[in-house]
Amino acid sequence: MPTLRLPALTDVHVHLRDLGETHKEDFASGTAAALAGGVTTVLAMPNTKPPVIDSAVFDSAAASVQRQARADVGLFVGAAAGNAQAAAALADRAVGLKIYLDATYGPLRVNDWTSLLAHFRTWPRGRVIAVHAEELSIPVAVGLAWAYGQRLHLCHVSRREELAYIQAAKAQGAPITCEVTPHHLFLDETDLPRLGARGQMRPPLATPDDRAGLWEMLDVVDCIATDHAPHTLAEKSSDAPPPGIPGLETTLPLLLTAVAEGRLTLDRLVALTHTHPRQIFRLPEQPDTYIEIDPDARWTLPDSGWHTRPGWSAFAGRPAQGRLRRVVLRGQTAFEDGVVLAAPGSGRLISPL
Ligand code: NCD
Ligand code: ZN
Ligand code: ZN
Ligand code: ZN
Repeated sequence: MPTLRLPALTDVHVHLRDLGETHKEDFASGTAAALAGGVTTVLAMPNTKPPVIDSAVFDSAAASVQRQARADVGLFVGAAAGNAQAAAALADRAVGLKIYLDATYGPLRVNDWTSLLAHFRTWPRGRVIAVHAEELSIPVAVGLAWAYGQRLHLCHVSRREELAYIQAAKAQGAPITCEVTPHHLFLDETDLPRLGARGQMRPPLATPDDRAGLWEMLDVVDCIATDHAPHTLAEKSSDAPPPGIPGLETTLPLLLTAVAEGRLTLDRLVALTHTHPRQIFRLPEQPDTYIEIDPDARWTLPDSGWHTRPGWSAFAGRPAQGRLRRVVLRGQTAFEDGVVLAAPGSGRLISPL
């Protein structure tokens, strides 16, 4: 097959670690990894140091994006106790409000009635609320969104029963969308003995039956998002390894391999990684922007040489079919044959339409 041209990917869930944890990643290295994965738009999570929970930190993060980004970046604002007004005041600049209902990396978490009600009441209608909600936190978030007329996006859904519930709620007209990650589609808990801490993330790798459920109900899923969560190998090898794995550069080859194996159509891949993410978050179009892939190239995902700062991958050693050759962003070649050409500052800070 000749070179294939596809819409560039939009990844609605990444951790780029700017401002205070740049030993893990920053906007320049994280957007280099994005381009090397065929991704021209990323939406960055607020569980940073310091967390993005007020306009002062938002302004600093926005300025850092404008200096460093090589691809387009949207910023979430995070929910904390007592910041419902401050968060709502950022609704036109942020791509959404992010609420962590369950424990994960970093201290940002809200799971008491008073704070949750304040956020669901105050956030402007029509703007997205994205949630880290596992198991019984999912119906809590869906119920609050329904009661207050909010648009809810469920991050990294990982279990069969969760997706079955989302399917049922959508059938009743619930105002919800959801994403799944490549690691929950391509790995499960049977990979843990081999991966050790490199296989630890929130939500954790699930059972083979949960993983099969994600594939069986893939038509209920709106987007594939990486949850790119870079931590250094030293941190992952420590006594208390932080949860999360890098994903920006491995997602496209994993999905192209699934297409080659007949598990996914190319149309569905484009819907899950481009069309739906841009619709859900009402992102401005990127004119003259696309990727070129060699659909026949066979290669093995390596353990080093990645653009993401930690430089390792939980998918190392996997055979892949399909390889990114070129990324064009607004008419400029931003990546070609392994080399990132876009300079820091060429990416834009984006906000919803
Ligand atoms: C994320 C991180 O490292 O920031 N880690 C993870 O395991 N997914 C946090 C998150 O997305 O919950
Ligand atoms: Zn999460
Ligand atoms: Zn995340
Ligand atoms: Zn488009």
